[in-house]
Amino acid sequence: MKLRTSIFAAAAALFAACGTPSGELSTGIIPAPDSVAWGEGAFRMPETLAWTTDLAGQELSDLAAWTERAGDFFPAAFAPAASPDEAALELRLAAQGTPESYVLDVARGRITITAPDAAGLFYGLQSLAQLAGHHGRRIPAVRIADAPRFPYRGFMLDVSRHFRPKEFVERQLDLMARYKLNRFHWHLTDGAGWRIEIERYPELTDFAAWRPYPNWEGWQFGGKRYCHRDDPAAEGGYYTKDEIREVIEYARALHITVIPEIEMPGHSEEVLATYPALSCSGKPYVDSDFCPGREETFEFLENVLAEVIELFPSEYIHIGGDEASKTGWKTCPRCRERMRREGLRDVDELQSYLVHRIEGYLNGKGRSLLGWDEILQGGLAPNATVMSWRGAEGGIAAARAGHHAVMTPNSHCYLDYCQDDPSSEPPAAPAFVTLEQAYRHDPAPDSLGADVTKMILGVQGNLWCEHIPTGEHAERMIWPRLMAIAEVGWSRPERMDYADFHGRVLDAVGWLQERGYHPFDQKNAVGPRPESLDTVACLSTGRPVIYRPKYSPSYAAAGDGSLTDGLRGGWNYGDRRWQGWLNTDVELVVDLGERQPVRRIAADFMQGFYADIWMPRAVEFAVSDDGERFGPLTTVENEVPFEYKRNCYREFAWQGEAEGRYVRVKALRNGRQGGWIFTDEIRVE
Ligand code: ACM
Ligand code: ZN
Repeated sequence: MKLRTSIFAAAAALFAACGTPSGELSTGIIPAPDSVAWGEGAFRMPETLAWTTDLAGQELSDLAAWTERAGDFFPAAFAPAASPDEAALELRLAAQGTPESYVLDVARGRITITAPDAAGLFYGLQSLAQLAGHHGRRIPAVRIADAPRFPYRGFMLDVSRHFRPKEFVERQLDLMARYKLNRFHWHLTDGAGWRIEIERYPELTDFAAWRPYPNWEGWQFGGKRYCHRDDPAAEGGYYTKDEIREVIEYARALHITVIPEIEMPGHSEEVLATYPALSCSGKPYVDSDFCPGREETFEFLENVLAEVIELFPSEYIHIGGDEASKTGWKTCPRCRERMRREGLRDVDELQSYLVHRIEGYLNGKGRSLLGWDEILQGGLAPNATVMSWRGAEGGIAAARAGHHAVMTPNSHCYLDYCQDDPSSEPPAAPAFVTLEQAYRHDPAPDSLGADVTKMILGVQGNLWCEHIPTGEHAERMIWPRLMAIAEVGWSRPERMDYADFHGRVLDAVGWLQERGYHPFDQKNAVGPRPESLDTVACLSTGRPVIYRPKYSPSYAAAGDGSLTDGLRGGWNYGDRRWQGWLNTDVELVVDLGERQPVRRIAADFMQGFYADIWMPRAVEFAVSDDGERFGPLTTVENEVPFEYKRNCYREFAWQGEAEGRYVRVKALRNGRQGGWIFTDEIRVE
């Protein structure tokens, strides 16, 4: 890393001296700036940089505080210049420019950053830090004019499934600021633990914040119990109000707004175990959804929100809204009575009733409601903003209806998904978002039309933490993929180039590692599943397959031709190359067209513990001349145990000498109720 930087610096100095045409040098900056014009000469970064600014008051003290602790983030110490003329760095407010924009001017003797606001000056400084990190102490003269594409560039952290200390949060806020992210969405409550002190309801932090299992998995599969904070087995935690104020203040000084999320009506097991009177059954450990038929529910939620509003200055309060089961509502007499009285036709409208009421409460306090895209069900509340996670459709529908939307589709923005070959990844849900997928995302494509795109506020990366018990693991999932999301949120599509970004990311990963962060080692990434990159050509390619039974319509891949189309699956069972069957043995017969010698038969299967995808108990291979009477060749037993939690892929194969027109591969289900079998290609040689 060090060696490469110094070679770069030497090359940069040479180019700069020759008057490089624009574009040949790299700034190394993430997210890619809007316009870059290289000049003549270079600025030599001193050990201590004398600086001046016309910022005043709180903005001045925020920036001064940052310069004092910027040692890890900036290649020089800062000292106030004795007079403005003696300053080597000047940060100046200007009358022009859109919010958060800046112009960074590096000249031989002086660096000037101008911006219309303190955030822009701060971002200019972040760009300078990265520029100096990339070029070394001799920074080529350059003029960078830069502005964000979207006003909302976010990161969500789930601290319910595994609690993280305040220091972990602040470490990530430092990096968010470096990459010009400006919204921290704090997922503070969920079934696995309540994480925020609410004075009116102390049981939330004496009981709902603690569980007798160290990990989410133990809680999820071990009865979802909670315990008192004094229980010797208690695991969990929460933030006191003072700690929350400290995080909000820390973030504010980095130009990051903290948006709290208080989940409702679903994902609320922890509250309902503590206050069962807020559930349909009235009993603990039965429901996961609040009962919207009870007035006590609204009283509780509004009392909690009142304290949340008092703590968080954010315009938005996120109320969750996702994945409510609504099961108890269908038979609950109070819910039915509420529906009758309010003229609500179904439980979706009942959910919408709850969201409308909560929105009314928030709006009355001068705040706006933000919720996951399920808040569209049953009718969207009048001023709500939708966070689109189940693809882009929810966000687009909201934007078409004149609502704001934040795009966070799981296909591009879910940082809990695997990012590379799962055999080298910690166990995780068998879904994938590679660095490249995170990057190749346009939250507001022009094709939607200007009326729609103008309602799309921006983009956000989400780290759900069911499978992420430690801080180190969390950092590995966040970085560097959040850099890709930062660039999606900041840079115009014309400025984006994956190959160039990838090069900048490799440097940035090294930089993070030098500072004790634990990013994923992108430079040693395997990338796509190697088998998926080649095309298969063998006796079975293009031949028809008889299915007994047919694949699930949910996982049909390319339909009937899929298992002999020459295309093998990638890491992701949802990539439309893997076909899936639920709860059944699977018999697949390939018709080779004529009787012929057969030397090898093979098919791959996969296991994805957290998606209930299992290796077959065994795979039987057989051949036949007439497609009816089969002669067995062999049975290959599975060797992957149920308990194996990483996603894995295994070939089951027979090799020998046989002849026939029909080849049969029979995968026997392993007996797990509700389990899936997936395969991608039958290969006969
Ligand atoms: C979500 O992932 N349930 C918003
Ligand atoms: Zn109810």
